[in-house]
Amino acid sequence: MSNQLLKGKKGIIFGALDERSIAWRTALRCYEEGAQIVLTNAPVALRMGEINKLAEACGNAPVIGADVTNMDDLKNLFEQSMQHFGGKIDFVLHSIGMSLNVRKGKSYTEMNYEWNSKTLDISAMSLHRVLRTAWDLDALNDWGSVVALSYIAAQRVFPDYNEMADAKALLESVTRSFGYHYGVKRKVRVNTVSQSPTRTTAGSGVKGFDGFMNYAEAMSPLGNAGADDCANYCVTLFSDMTRFVTMQNLFHDGGFSFTGVTQTVIEQMEK
Ligand SMILES: NC(=O)c1ccc[n+]([C@@H]2O[C@H](COP(=O)([O-])OP(=O)(O)OC[C@H]3O[C@@H](n4cnc5c(N)ncnc54)[C@H](O)[C@@H]3O)[C@@H](O)[C@H]2O)c1
Repeated sequence: MSNQLLKGKKGIIFGALDERSIAWRTALRCYEEGAQIVLTNAPVALRMGEINKLAEACGNAPVIGADVTNMDDLKNLFEQSMQHFGGKIDFVLHSIGMSLNVRKGKSYTEMNYEWNSKTLDISAMSLHRVLRTAWDLDALNDWGSVVALSYIAAQRVFPDYNEMADAKALLESVTRSFGYHYGVKRKVRVNTVSQSPTRTTAGSGVKGFDGFMNYAEAMSPLGNAGADDCANYCVTLFSDMTRFVTMQNLFHDGGFSFTGVTQTVIEQMEK
């Protein structure tokens, strides 16, 4: 179903690795809603080749490699995108996360600090880098919209989420801080969407992910929100229907974040 909510808009989508990726689902929905897009991912992820299928499904969208921790790559990405669009950009999806300590099996209390600083750079400060690049090139149109993906471990403890909890807290802080400056300069809005656990490559990397997902499902009045619903929510945030929403962390989690307990969980505890 298309309402052409993004008709005439141009956007860059970071982080589509495979068809389960939140970015992949969002790219398809943005295209369906009338947007033109450029796809980007780290050069190592592009080598998998999967993204070419998505590019084709999105009207032969250009695919431009960029490691999000490299300022030259980001500058090239924004310059090439503006050249392709023949003008400035209306929206950006930052759908990027990677934890070196999780990947290498280090628990939170044994953290390797070099890996941790890379994690924070890839997963959180990268949003600053993206916004800074757009700011320096004056690449975003007035009333543009930038969305990054977060998780409720930024506010509450989920032990196996490890250092990514700190990364998400930093990501949400950058959202507020840069959101202030970009709002004043260009009326650009910056928000995070705090998504339910979702079965993707990054999601499944968290220890005990199945238990984690089932628990969230039982604790959410509406159940877990899936990737396609997350994509729909991102479309609304890129559209002109949400022009005064900025600097927010927006829960997209079926009500999980504000539920103390559910009848389902009480019944399980009584067994
Ligand atoms: N899956 C979940 O349960 C869940 C829940 C809440 C939030 N999120 C967040 O959603 C976002 C997208 O993750 P996903 O679940 O779709 O998983 P995913 O693995 O499909 O996407 C993560 C992406 O980050 C990219 N990436 C990693 N390092 C990079 C670098 N240096 N430069 C550029 N790109 C890089 C990867 O190539 C990949 O495309 C992440 O921020 C994640 O933390 C996921």
